[in-house]
Formats: sequence, C-alpha cells, structure tokens
Amino acid sequence: MPKRRDLLTIVLIVVPWTLLITFWHQSVIPPLLAVQNDGKAEVIRDHDRRLRPQGSCTIENRHIVKVVQTGYTYSRPPPWSEVLPVIYVVTPTYSRPVQKAELTRLANTLLHVPNLHWILVEDSQRRTPLVTKLLRDTGLNFTHLSVETPQNLKRHGETGDSRIPRGTVQRNLALSWLRETFSVNTSQQAVVYFADDDNTYSLELFEEMRSTHKVSVWPVAFVGGLRYESPKVNTLGKVYGWKTVFDPRRPFAIDMAGFAVNLRLILHKPEACFKLHGVKGGYQESSLLRELVTLNDLEPKADNCTKVLVWHTRTEKPVLVNEGKKGFTDANVEI
Ligand code: UGA
Ligand code: MN
Repeated sequence: MPKRRDLLTIVLIVVPWTLLITFWHQSVIPPLLAVQNDGKAEVIRDHDRRLRPQGSCTIENRHIVKVVQTGYTYSRPPPWSEVLPVIYVVTPTYSRPVQKAELTRLANTLLHVPNLHWILVEDSQRRTPLVTKLLRDTGLNFTHLSVETPQNLKRHGETGDSRIPRGTVQRNLALSWLRETFSVNTSQQAVVYFADDDNTYSLELFEEMRSTHKVSVWPVAFVGGLRYESPKVNTLGKVYGWKTVFDPRRPFAIDMAGFAVNLRLILHKPEACFKLHGVKGGYQESSLLRELVTLNDLEPKADNCTKVLVWHTRTEKPVLVNEGKKGFTDANVEI
C-alpha cells in the first residue's frame, strides 16, 4: 500500500509536470527551425497554419517558402585548386567619386570565385594608394598595374566623342603582362576575361567561362539600347549572328563583358590587341576578336545563350547633392 505521503507527491509534482509536457507537444505553433542532420535549419512551408499575430503584422506561413541557414564553412577566397583552370580577370579602372564603391562591389563578387587572379589596371601615371590598399585588404590574388590614357585619347565628359574607347590601353597592358608572364608553351590552363569595374557579374558566369577552349560568348544585359544583346545560336549550338540593334554589321557585335578568351590563344597570337586608332565606336571588341577567331570558333555558354549572367552598367556622373552641406563634407573621409 502506498503511503499517503507518496500519493501526495504524485498528485502535486508528477501530474502537473505530465500535463505541462503534454501541452508543450501539442502547441498550435509549428516548430520554426527544424534542425536537420547536416546542420542546416529550414522553415518548412505550411499552408494550414498561421504564426501567432504580432500586433497588426500577421505573417502567413505560406509566404515563407524556405529559409536555409548554412553552417560556417566559408573561406575567402576559396582554396586554390590544382585542377581548375585559372581565370584572369582584367579590369581597367580610373579615379572618380564612385571608384572605391565599384571596386569594393566587384572585389566582393570575385572573392567567391575559386582560382581567380585579378589584373587591375589603373588609368593613371602611377598606382594610387587607394587602389593599392583596397587590393591588399581584399585578400584576392592580384596584379596591380597602371598606365595613363594619353590626353588625345581621353573622352572628356559625358558629351565627349563617344567613338573614343575607354579602358583600351589598360586592357592592352594586361595582355602584355600575360605575354611576359607566361611562355607560349605554358601548361597553365587559364581563361582571360575583361570585366569592367562597374558591371554586375553572377558567380555562375565564372564557372561557365572556365571551360573556354578558344573564345566563349554569352548574352549581356542593358547594352546597345536593348534589355540584352546576345549571340544568335542555331540548333547545332553554333553562333551564326548577333541579336543587336546597334550597328549589327560589326564582325563581333558583342560587349566587352560578353566573351572570354583562352590564355593559350592570347599567347599564340602575340599581335592581337585592342586597336586604338582607326576603330569606330563599338568596334573595340571586334578589333581583338577578329585577330583570334572566326564566328565558327565561338563557344556559346549560358545554356546556349538563353540566360543572362552579366549586367552592363553605364557609369553616370554622380550628382553629389550633399556636397557642401554641413555634416557631409569632410576632407578626411574617403568615400
Ligand atoms: C562600354 C563597354 O562596356 C566597355 O567595355 C568599353 O570599354 C566602353 O563602352 C568604351 O566606350 O570603350 P561604358 O560603360 O560606356 O562601357 O564604359 P565605362 O564603364 O565608363 O568604361 C569601361 C572601363 O574602362 C571601366 O572599367 C572603367 O573604369 C575604365 N575607364 C573608363 C578607364 O580606365 N578610364 C577612363 O577614362 C574611363
Ligand atoms: Mn561601364
């Protein structure tokens, strides 16, 4: 026979706890974070239930499709691989109010790409402290060069002669650096990409170009007055023309951001470069590519040129509305 004291213990302690645990499990709120074995946590879609209203902000679960939290496994840049081809990204850049912002944004993209070497070429007499520090702080593999565009080849202001190409002598210096750095019969598997400092690049783009044998091509958004320009690809996967409105007679009617070249092709054609003289506006890309390949050689990427993986951005002169206002002008602040 249980003693009266034991019965009292059961009634006062065990029963309340049992009830509490039962209610806990039958709670109307679904578990928000269902922790999985791989360390990821997900919110699973649930049409039937509602999260508890918080003031007027009722969140219906059907609006939450999926939230994934990844465990910390990231290092930047990613570890160097002995098997992946290297991507040499060539970027001309020049001093202006938005320069540091643009280079920071681009560096943040490049930091996600394995086996990448950034060749940053300043349009200036010498390398500037701003860019030197920025490059060092990124932790990227890089080469820092500089060459100033001659005055007679500079486009002056937005109204300047639009036939004068930009970034040309800088890209050519990068080509010379590559030819000096590698011998023609190098075993280095590598691709060269001309990435302006103001465009937006998806990470997928770099993996697409990595397998370039000669010259690979893909669409570029927001160029030539179109939502996107693109190589035209036939059912055999061959490029046969260009979807463009701006001067469709160009041999390679493609923006600088729309192609990549195998390093060995650049080394085997030492004369190939971007022409500075006698080149009409929009013909800069053609002036290099016609020295390297024919239309038939082009390798369409991005699902046979059906996907946009890079967006062109035209650098506009920033309107510095805050300049001069109290509290905004500080000569010591480097923007
Ligand atoms: C378009 C193309 O997308 C460029 O690849 C091409 O070089 C350019 O036209 C051209 O006119 O030749 P767009 O946006 O008009 O580009 O040109 P920017 O972005 O202003 O300049 C292209 C690159 O050259 C940028 O990386 C920029 O930083 C650099 N640049 C520009 C210089 O190094 N120096 C300059 O004086 C101007
Ligand atoms: Mn641009």
